[in-house]
Amino acid sequence: MSANRPAAVVVLAAGEGTRMKSATPKVLHDICGRSLVAHVVVAAQELDPEHLVVVVGHARERVCEHLGGLDPDIRAAVQHEQNGTGHAVRMGLEALSADGVTLDGTVIVTCGDTPLLTGSTLRTLADTHTAEGNAVTVLTAEVPDSTGYGRIVRGADGSVTEIVEHKDATEAQRAVREINSGVFAFDAALLSDALGKVRTDNTQGEEYLTDVLGILREAGHRVGAAVAADHREILGINNRVQLAEARRLLNERLLEGMMLSGVTIIDPATTWVDATVTAEPDSLVHPGSQLLGATHLSAHAEVGPNSRLADTEVGEGAVVSNTVADGARIGAGACVGPYAYLRPGTDLGPKSKAGTYVEMKNAQIGEGTKVPHLSYVGDATIGEYTNIGASSVFVNYDGETKHHTTIGSHCKTGSDNMFVAPVTIGDGAYTAAGSVITKDVPPGSLAVARGQQRNIEGWVARKRPGSAAAQAAQAAGRREDSGK
Ligand code: UD1
Ligand code: CA
Repeated sequence: MSANRPAAVVVLAAGEGTRMKSATPKVLHDICGRSLVAHVVVAAQELDPEHLVVVVGHARERVCEHLGGLDPDIRAAVQHEQNGTGHAVRMGLEALSADGVTLDGTVIVTCGDTPLLTGSTLRTLADTHTAEGNAVTVLTAEVPDSTGYGRIVRGADGSVTEIVEHKDATEAQRAVREINSGVFAFDAALLSDALGKVRTDNTQGEEYLTDVLGILREAGHRVGAAVAADHREILGINNRVQLAEARRLLNERLLEGMMLSGVTIIDPATTWVDATVTAEPDSLVHPGSQLLGATHLSAHAEVGPNSRLADTEVGEGAVVSNTVADGARIGAGACVGPYAYLRPGTDLGPKSKAGTYVEMKNAQIGEGTKVPHLSYVGDATIGEYTNIGASSVFVNYDGETKHHTTIGSHCKTGSDNMFVAPVTIGDGAYTAAGSVITKDVPPGSLAVARGQQRNIEGWVARKRPGSAAAQAAQAAGRREDSGK
């Protein structure tokens, strides 16, 4: 158990987020590979709270299903009507007490739409709260533009006296740039007591959580504040402009972490990564690349330019350029692209190649095997050190079912082959260019499966007399006659 483990973290996420103009509830919008609320949950989990409660309301079925997928231990508390942040916290606490939980210690309240807030800032808030022995500690920040936020009102001695909502603030109060982040640490018992006293006589007719500060202060309790080191952390998302801004800021933070750990990012401005991506020191990312999901780059792997890798493992020293990959494994020293498309189930062995204009799906490619040009490899197993000729297609679909092709090791298949699955080609076999392979090829054989060539001599002179082609052919004939 950590030294300062909160009794509970309550995440407020019941609001509709009308300004997103979206069929998707606000907190389920994604930045850097996680929903807004998932970022908040991850930060909250860093405090290791005894209880993690998310207050849901608008579109709660979808939000609850999503939360269950994040962590089955999350307690969802329903707020049927959005009667304000104070009311929302009350619903959260009442859900716990309905479970028979009596909270003792610190309760942290945070919002589902502030995805940039880090666990370490939450930790600072909790530690300040405990060290100062406060009844409530509000996380504040100095922002360049405080429009819309609740303003922090301080007394002559500098202590926080109240929080005034933008809509309820005087001109003088509106000039204050220190704002309420919406994140608080409370003493659990004092919080539930004070929530019972919150009134609704304000512009919005809501129960404001912020009123708890004034109530506690008037009752003689200590009210404190912790100022966030970086005001950008408390950015709340209300519309898609702020969504894009938060994404950019988080992306910068993630890239900075990667660079400081030894990854070369050639152009941070055009490189986008998810929070779940991992990369080893001395991997390198070229401009215009997106690394998504569980993508991992091993040491000396090189990705980009202009590549999008999702849930893809890139082995040591592999080079992947101008490629789209999803659910692929790329072995050490393998070479992919430019212009390759690796779909789920692609497993490229060490030192193998998926070259230019090559698409693969559900394909196991052995060590050193090359598919260099203009090919589709679907539902296939290829052994080691085989070469697939340019412009080949693994014909895997008969219109109803997918079938598998197996090609052995050390094979050389000709250009422009069709492998009509199910079909098997043995080790060391060759196939002729232009073949349509419909029957198995035994090891070491050459398969030829194409029409015989037939030359009809003099056809051009007879059928296209006087044409440029006929003249060129005639000149060629004269040169041959004169022995030149
Ligand atoms: C709130 C604060 C404001 C602060 C700002 C920071 C209050 C009264 N105001 O204002 O001082 O500067 O956050 O972003 O607390 N929610 C519910 N149920 C409700 C109402 C809200 O769950 O009934 C949730 C929302 O989904 C959201 C959060 O609480 O996640 C904040 O609510 P919002 O309406 O955005 O509050 P603000 O007006 O932005
Ligand atoms: Ca808000």
